[in-house]
Order: sequence, then C-alpha cells, then structure tokens
Amino acid sequence: MRAALLPLFAAAVLAISPPARADRLPVPAGAPPSFNAECGSCHMAFPPALLTAGDWSRVMARLDKHYGDNASLDGKTRRELEDFLARNAAADPRMAGQGDPPRLTASAWFQRKHRKVSESLWRDARVNSASNCSACHSRAEQGSYRGREISLPELREKH
Ligand code: HEC
Ligand code: HEC
Repeated sequence: MRAALLPLFAAAVLAISPPARADRLPVPAGAPPSFNAECGSCHMAFPPALLTAGDWSRVMARLDKHYGDNASLDGKTRRELEDFLARNAAADPRMAGQGDPPRLTASAWFQRKHRKVSESLWRDARVNSASNCSACHSRAEQGSYRGREISLPELREKH
C-alpha cells in the first residue's frame, strides 16, 4: 500500500517548479522533433519564451519572408510548430518583439539585459548579429546564460 503511493508522492514533488532563473532559458522538454530540425537549422532554435504568442503567430505566418530568407514549411509542420511556440510563449509584455516579422532581440527585456553591450560589439566579426546568442553565451544551445559562461573576454571583464 505504502509503495503504491510512492509514485504519487514523487509526482507531487516534481510538480513543485523551481523558482524561475533569469539565466536559464531552455527549449521546453516535449518540443516536437521538427522544432530543432526546422527552426535550428539556420540559427539556434530560439526558446519560445523569448516572444509572445502574438509575435510567434506573426513569425509563423510569414515564413516565406523570414528576415530576408525563405523558411517555408508544409502546412502540418507549420501548425505543429506554431502551436508549440504559442503554448510556451511569454505572457510578459516586456518580451514583446519589434519589427515585421518581430525580432526578439528588439524586445524591452532583451535590450535591458544587454545594455552593457556596445553598438559596435553587436557588429563585431565574432558576433555579426544580436541573434547569434552562442557567439557570447557559450552554453546558449543548452539553455544556459550565466555571466561566467560569456565567451568574449571584454564582456566578461565588466562583471
Ligand atoms: C532558411 C534559414 C532559416 C530557417 C529554416 C529559420 N530561420 Fe529564423 N532566421 C533566419 C535568418 C537569416 C534570420 C535573421 C538573423 C539575423 O538578422 O540576425 C532569422 C531570424 C529569426 C528570428 C529573429 C531573431 C532576432 O533577430 O530577434 C526568429 C524569432 C526566428 N528566426 C525564428 C525562427 C523559427 C521559429 C523558425 C522555424 C519555424 C526559423 N526561424 C527557421 C533564417 C532561418
Ligand atoms: C555580444 C554578446 C552577446 C550576444 C550576441 C547575446 N548576449 Fe545575452 N548577454 C550578454 C551579456 C554581456 C550579458 C550580461 C551578463 C551578465 O550581466 O552577467 C547577457 C545577458 C543575457 C541574459 C541574462 C542572464 C541573467 O543572468 O540575467 C540572457 C537570458 C541572455 N543574455 C540571453 C541571450 C539570448 C537569448 C541571445 C540571442 C538571441 C543573446 N543573449 C545574445 C552578451 C550577449
């Protein structure tokens, strides 16, 4: 009888989510395999929590005109990914993107987190674009953005 209750107890403990950490932004477990395959082939698969649901539907509606590229998908995959992104999107209005299609690197949240990064550094040859997270965050692909993981020495020295 006791043993039968154990799995229930374990499930209850796991359901208590850890406090949100600003330096953790993983792609949620249970992402459809097409997410990494389709949205991680040209750039890192961006965590859905970086834009609002409305932003994601605007991104997904115009994959043929995707920031100067064509990222079109078949209808079934597109709907599957749009659902996944919307379900895991940010509710916080500070995460709202800017532009058409919206850029997550233009959100108020992103700008505030990166206020120490100078304009010229975004265009540095080692970086090229603010969307190139892994250029500075050595463990971005694993969803980790800790200060000590910053790979550009001039940025690391500042804190
Ligand atoms: C054919 C290549 C390609 C594919 C496939 C692709 N993208 Fe992109 N994506 C780009 C390019 C190029 C940019 C612009 C990068 C830049 O300007 O820094 C971009 C930028 C973005 C941005 C804006 C980043 C910023 O600057 O804030 C988002 C969001 C995004 N992509 C989401 C997606 C999603 C979701 C998928 C899958 C449905 C996807 N991408 C698939 C090429 C692609
Ligand atoms: C030019 C280098 C650079 C690029 C590119 C960059 N970042 Fe950052 N990022 C930083 C620096 C520097 C900080 C501040 C680190 C600190 O204060 O400890 C930071 C902070 C962060 C933080 C906050 C961590 C915390 O503890 O609060 C997150 C999350 C983050 N970046 C995500 C991203 C994402 C996602 C991308 C790509 C879309 C990106 N960054 C692109 C340099 C960069």
